[in-house]
Amino acid sequence: MSISEDFLKREDLRSQLFGDVWRTLIPEVFRDVPTYYDKGNAVASLGSCSWWSTRFARAIHQRLPSEAKVLDVCSGTHDIPLKLLALNPQIEIHTVDGSPYMTQEGQRRASERNLTIHAQVCDAHVLPFADNSFDAVSLQFASRHLEIIRAFKEIFRVLKPGGVFCHNDMLRPASRLIEIPYLAYLRCSVWSTAKLFGSSNESMKCVDYFADVIHHFYKPQEMTDLLRGIGFADIENHSFMTGVMSYHISRKPLPQA
Ligand SMILES: C[S@@+](CC[C@H](N)C(=O)[O-])C[C@H]1O[C@@H](n2cnc3c(N)ncnc32)[C@H](O)[C@@H]1O
Repeated sequence: MSISEDFLKREDLRSQLFGDVWRTLIPEVFRDVPTYYDKGNAVASLGSCSWWSTRFARAIHQRLPSEAKVLDVCSGTHDIPLKLLALNPQIEIHTVDGSPYMTQEGQRRASERNLTIHAQVCDAHVLPFADNSFDAVSLQFASRHLEIIRAFKEIFRVLKPGGVFCHNDMLRPASRLIEIPYLAYLRCSVWSTAKLFGSSNESMKCVDYFADVIHHFYKPQEMTDLLRGIGFADIENHSFMTGVMSYHISRKPLPQA
C-alpha cells in the first residue's frame, strides 16, 4: 500500500477547506432533506443522478455472488440497498450513515416494501465491523464529504479478500470545458432546489460548498490512482461527461500464495 505525497497533501487541503463544513453543516443538511432528497436530486441533476445510480446498482449486482453480504456506506435513504434487493432479494445488506434522519427515511422505505436492511448510525471513518466481513462494499454520492483516505482504508479492512469495492460519486470532470459550465450550473441548481424545497438556513449556507468541494475533488483517473494506492486491484472506471458522475469498481486482492 503506498499513497503518494501528492494525495496526502491534497487530503490535508480538503480537510482544511471543508473540515468545518463536514463536521457542522453537513449533518444539518441531511437532517433537512430526507423526505424530499430524491425529488431534490432529480431537479438539481435533471434526472441524471437516478439514471446513473441505476446503472451503478446493476454493475454491482453483476459482480455479487447470489447470497452475498454487502455493506452500503453513507447509505442515506438506502437508494443502493433498495435497488440491489429489487435485483436479488437473497443478499444480506448492512448500512451505515451518520444521519439518523436519512437512516429513518431509508428504513421506512424498506419496511414499506417488506425488506430488511440492517442499518447503523455511525461515522463512515470508523466502521463497526470486523476485518474481512463483506463480499462487497458500496459508497455512492458521499465520498466528497469524507476524509477519503481514512474512509477507503476502513472499507479495504472490512472487505473479504477478493471482495469488491463499488464507488460512485460526482467527481471533478477531467475536461475544463465541462467543469466550468457544470460548476456554474451546479451553483444555480443547488440554490434554486434549496429555495424550491424551503431548505433551512444551514442548508442555504452550503450552496457554494457543493460546487467548491467538487472543484477540489479527484478526477476519474486520479480516483483510480488513489484506489490503487490504498491497495485495490482490477480497477474499472465508467464516467459520464468526463467525471460529472463516475463509478469505479475494484477488488481487494487475494493473499499471495
Ligand atoms: C448525498 S447523500 C447520499 C446517500 C446515498 N448514498 C445515496 O446515494 O442516495 C450523502 C450521505 O452521506 C452521509 N454522510 C456524510 N458524511 C458522513 C460521515 N462522516 N459518516 C457517515 N455518513 C456520512 C450523509 O448523512 C448522507 O446521508
